[in-house]
Amino acid sequence: MKAVQMLEFSQKGDERGHLVIVEGMKDIPFEIKRVFYIYGSDDKVVRGQHANRKSEFVLINVAGTSKVRVRDGKGNEAVFSLNRPHTGIYLPKMVWKDMYDFSEDSVLLCLASEHYDAEEYIRDYAEFEKIISNCKEA
Ligand code: TYD
Repeated sequence: MKAVQMLEFSQKGDERGHLVIVEGMKDIPFEIKRVFYIYGSDDKVVRGQHANRKSEFVLINVAGTSKVRVRDGKGNEAVFSLNRPHTGIYLPKMVWKDMYDFSEDSVLLCLASEHYDAEEYIRDYAEFEKIISNCKEA
């Protein structure tokens, strides 16, 4: 399985301002089928709280900051800070993620490898743990 990791994107800024490039299969390990973004959340909100059977994601705070807690369902967890418009976090399928601690100006851009399908979302942590423990290669 591909690992959760921070990604650093190319910047082509000049005196006119910043420009960051994210191309599917070049800068991130999938073709982008879906883009959505989250804003207007605050430091009391926890979003995400799910794992995906199929979708891979890259999350980029194009403005403001937030944190992502990732859990593998086997007792391991890690927290990543998203605080620069030219860095993102890669999230493979079958990891549990919570997004939280949003700054007031946070705009969290999410790039996804799949079209939206509610059926591939696992929203119950106990169910996620069970699926992981039943998965031989995990
Ligand atoms: P949700 O998955 O709870 O958002 P997050 O994980 O970012 O906190 O999604 C909120 C609602 O929006 C839910 O009713 C599903 C819907 N939705 C779509 O219809 N398409 C999408 O691509 C996404 C991400 C959500």
